[in-house]
This record gives sequence, C-alpha cells and structure tokens, in this order.
Amino acid sequence: MLPRKRVKIAIALFTLLVILSFLSTSPSKPTRIQHKFTRKAQIQTARQNAVKREFLHAWTGYKDHAWMADGLMPLSGSRKQQFCGWSATLVDSLDTLYIMGLDDDFDEAVNATLTIDFTGTAGDCDVNLFESTIRYLGGLMAAYDLSNDARLLPKLVELGDMLHSAFRTANGMPCTHCKLGAKRGVLMASNSAPLADVGSLYLEFARLSQITRDEKYMKTVDFLSNTFARAQDQSSIVGLWPEIVIPSATDGTDPMFVKANFRYSLGALSDSAYEYLVKTHLLLGKTTKIYESMWKAASKQIKRHLLFRAFIPHADKTEVIFPGIVTRSRIVNQTLLEPRTEHLACFSGGMFAMASRIFNEPDDFHIGEQITNGCVWAYRNSPTGIMPEAFTALPCSDNDGRQCDWNGSYWEQESRRPAHCQDADCDQYRFPPGFLQVSDPSYKLRPEAIESVFVMWRMTGNEHWREVGWSMFESIIAHTRSAFGHAALLSTMETYDQDRYEKGLMVRKVLARRQDDMESFWFAETLKYFYLLFSEPNLISLDEWVLNTEAHPFRLTAGIRGF
Ligand SMILES: *[C@@H]1O[C@H](CO)[C@@H](O)[C@H](O)[C@H]1NC(C)=O
Ligand SMILES: *[C@@H]1O[C@H](CO)[C@@H](O)[C@H](O)[C@H]1NC(C)=O
Ligand SMILES: *[C@@H]1O[C@H](CO)[C@@H](O)[C@H](O)[C@H]1NC(C)=O
Repeated sequence: MLPRKRVKIAIALFTLLVILSFLSTSPSKPTRIQHKFTRKAQIQTARQNAVKREFLHAWTGYKDHAWMADGLMPLSGSRKQQFCGWSATLVDSLDTLYIMGLDDDFDEAVNATLTIDFTGTAGDCDVNLFESTIRYLGGLMAAYDLSNDARLLPKLVELGDMLHSAFRTANGMPCTHCKLGAKRGVLMASNSAPLADVGSLYLEFARLSQITRDEKYMKTVDFLSNTFARAQDQSSIVGLWPEIVIPSATDGTDPMFVKANFRYSLGALSDSAYEYLVKTHLLLGKTTKIYESMWKAASKQIKRHLLFRAFIPHADKTEVIFPGIVTRSRIVNQTLLEPRTEHLACFSGGMFAMASRIFNEPDDFHIGEQITNGCVWAYRNSPTGIMPEAFTALPCSDNDGRQCDWNGSYWEQESRRPAHCQDADCDQYRFPPGFLQVSDPSYKLRPEAIESVFVMWRMTGNEHWREVGWSMFESIIAHTRSAFGHAALLSTMETYDQDRYEKGLMVRKVLARRQDDMESFWFAETLKYFYLLFSEPNLISLDEWVLNTEAHPFRLTAGIRGF
C-alpha cells in the first residue's frame, strides 16, 4: 500500500496534468451559430410539403427520363452530360433525399451511386476539379455523414483519390481541367484559373481526411492555404485575391500567382474562396490560425472596397448593401467600383452573418443582414419576383446611406444613359425603378439568395425571413415549373401571356420565358434551403453541421483536425 501522502500528491499531479492537457488541446468553445429556439413545433408543415412536392416533381422527371445522366433537360425531357457523366444530379441529390425523409428514393439512389465507376467512366474527359469536388465529392460525403452507410466509404476514397490526383504537378498546385487518374503521371498546373476553382477546395479534402484518417488530403489543404496566405499581400488590393489566379506560377522569386489580374468581387469566379475561409476554420474546430487571419485581412477590404449602397425605392436605404466589382490596376493608382451585383454574390449575406459568430465580430452580423436585404429587395422589385443574374444599381456617394433618398427623376435621368438609347426606343432599356441596367436578366435556378435568407432565419429566429422566403419560393415555382421539372428563365425582367395545361385545363398565365436547363444545384441547394427554412430548426442545425458551397452538410466533429 502506498503512503497516503504520496497518493494525495499523485492525485494532485494527475489532476493538474489532466487540466493542462485539456487546456492545451481542447478546441476553443464550440461556436453557437443558431438562435436559441424555444417554442416547440417550429415546423411549417404546409410550406415544407409544398417544397417537397416540387422536389419530387423534378426528381420523378429525372428518374423517368434521365436516370444516371448528369442532368435532365426540363422542357424537352432529354438527358444532358456535363460533368464527365458520373451522374451529377444523382450524386448531388443524395443528401436532399435523405433530409426530406424520402427513404426509398435515397436507398435506390445510393444503390445506383455504388455502380458509378469514378476511375473509369471519365475516360478522356477533362475533369472540372472545382465542380466535381463540390458536387460529387461533397454530395457523396454528406450522404455518408448523414447515413453512416459504410458502403459509401470505398466510393468516397475512389473519387477522392481521383480528384486528388489533380495535384500531382511539379509545383503542387492543381490542374483544374485535366484528364485525371492514377495512370496519368505528372500533370501541368493550370496556367490560369478562376480564384474559386483553386481557393475553395479546402473543406471537402479536409473532411475527407477527417473521415478516412488519411492525412494526405489534409496535407494538400495545408499546402493550398499556405499558398493563398503568402499571396494575400501581393495582389493590387492587399488582402483580396483577384478573380483570376495563375496556379502554374507560384514558385520562383517573383510569383505571378495573384499579379496578373486586377478585378475583385464576391460573385462569379471568386465567391466560395472567401466563404471557405470561414467554413474551414469551423470544420477544423477553430484550431488553426491561418483561415482566421486570411478572413480578417480579406473581410476588412471587402467592407472597404466591394460593398456599396444604392439609390433604391421601397426599402430602408440604410439597411441595404450590395456587393459590387472592383478593379485596381498597378499602373493607375485608383480603385474603380463597378456597381454591378450578381445573384451569385448573394451568399455573402450568410457568410458575413456566420463569420460574425465564428470570429466574434458582432458588427459583421449587420453587414450580412444588409446584404441579404439587398437580394431580397431585388427579388421583390423585379417583374417576376425573382432577382436577375446580374444588374447595376446607382451607387450613393456616401457610405451610411443617409444621403441616398430615392429620387425618381435622378434615376430616370441616369437610366436613359446608354448612348444608343433614343427617347423613342428607350422603353426596352427601362427596368423597374432601382434597376439601372440589367446586364444578365436570366435566372438559373440559383440558391444564393435563399441560402442567406435561411442562415438569417436560423441565426435570428425572426419569422420575417420565412415570409420573405415563401414569396421567393412562390415566384420561382410559378415561373419555372415545367413538364419534366423546373426550367431556368431567359429573363426575370419580362413576362408574356402563355397558355399552359394545368390539371387537364388550358389556362392563360403571365409568365417568363424559359430555357431547357436545370442544373443539379436546383436539387442539391435551392430546394434544400427552401425545405430547411420551413423545417424544425434542429434539422441540419448550423451548430452541428457545416454546409459546403453546394449545400452539402458535413458533420462538425469535436476532434482536432480529425486525426
Ligand atoms: C439496395 O441494395 C440493397 C443491397 O443489395 C438491397 O437490399 C436493397 O433492396 C436495395 N434497395 C433498393 C431500393 O433497390
Ligand atoms: C496610391 O494612392 C493612395 C491615395 O489614394 C496613396 O496613399 C498611395 O501612396 C498611392 N500609391 C502609389 C503606389 O502611388
Ligand atoms: C432629384 O434629381 C434631379 C435630377 O438630378 C434634381 O434636379 C433634383 O434636385 C433632385 N431632387 C432632390 C429632392 O434631390
């Protein structure tokens, strides 16, 4: 028997050790992102069922007419191959089937997924690394994280290794459009690529390492994030990365990685590169500093240069912000704002709101709220009730918006600007008040606006966001529903009288012109966000899951970096 004193000392030492090891290794306090919902039964069943009905309408179209194709063409009912024929719509939809409780369809879809050969089917197809990572790898991984179906694990590794082979290049930077696979040998890193294609691969590969406990994917993630961190002060707007980067040029004494392009935005080409700083930090249990410091440097410059206020009617001008596009060349020392805002950039409302909690910067929540308000304004004030792909607004000269009173004659004067617009034919260039020019009036079934509305709802519990989301849903369905699914719109700005058969009756409706296209993100993202908006708030709680940029939920685990 040990003397009692020694036992006491031993116990004290042991306790101290436990405390010390806890302090040194425990991830920081879990971030609470969601609002503390108190009332029970927050579900809005009728609306939730309406969303599910629309999902099933399109899913049935896909099953009957384009099963295992990348996509279904919603007007003609034909098949479409777009992403190397690995059944993009099938894989992208798995987790939505699961979340909506469509168990039989989920089983059937998983069984079909297990027959896809991710090493061979591609054949001579150039793999789009970014789209394949977010849609296929993200989709498979979320299906695995949700269902724990062990049969998906080997597929995950098969696809993960296929995509990971894109990094087998001389400088370690990826080839973003290459024939991939074990047999391909050493590839050439891309000479030019959209920022988002290279800068938003962290989340999927990091989660793959956590799930498989194979560190090799995480090593690539570390390499990539270090490259972006090093380059962050080398661009013409220090803190931001330009829309186009040069992956082949990161070694050498004067790396051109971020020096060949001078345009910056939160929209097309860039978007998720900023989103993934926030989300990867969260996925890694807030144990690294690198994503946090990149985010802080970037968000400062986003707020300073990219966001603007505009003259718009029917809104509290001090509560609305739009993300724009900025150019800053090295030669002319001047930052130019192009006040064009894109549907794609609407995700940034949710991003700023989430970042405010994750990085404990409360003021950023309001930024996120105002960006979301801007997208909601664009939905509410367009003739179809749907925001166009891209439009220009009339920026205010000040930053707080107080001098930005709506002035109809000023707007009228500015909206007649185009040189080719004579008084007589000006009408075709006229858009609803507030929309100065609409450079791309289409709607491609995109999710970014409802994504931010969903995040706002989950973070505030304010029913306003559900009401706003419901009218977005009604407008979208009214104009996009087609025989086989839902169709993208050629223009959200014009409508026509159209005869449609509904329930056996011919009805005349005022509708937008449609396009024979339905991207897989309609299933993976848009309808999922609508569904979750009306579900009970614990379904895919933002405190337990992080959603990739294709809305695929990855489980947040307590483990530090997962291994
Ligand atoms: C899926 O495959 C499993 C195992 O082969 C089988 O038991 C199950 O019935 C299949 N499910 C469907 C919906 O086909
Ligand atoms: C660019 O202009 C800013 C002020 O607008 C000035 O502070 C800065 O020094 C200038 N940089 C160069 C390289 O001329
Ligand atoms: C509105 O704009 C017009 C045209 O620019 C200008 O003449 C007028 O003074 C403005 N009105 C107000 C109240 O600012």
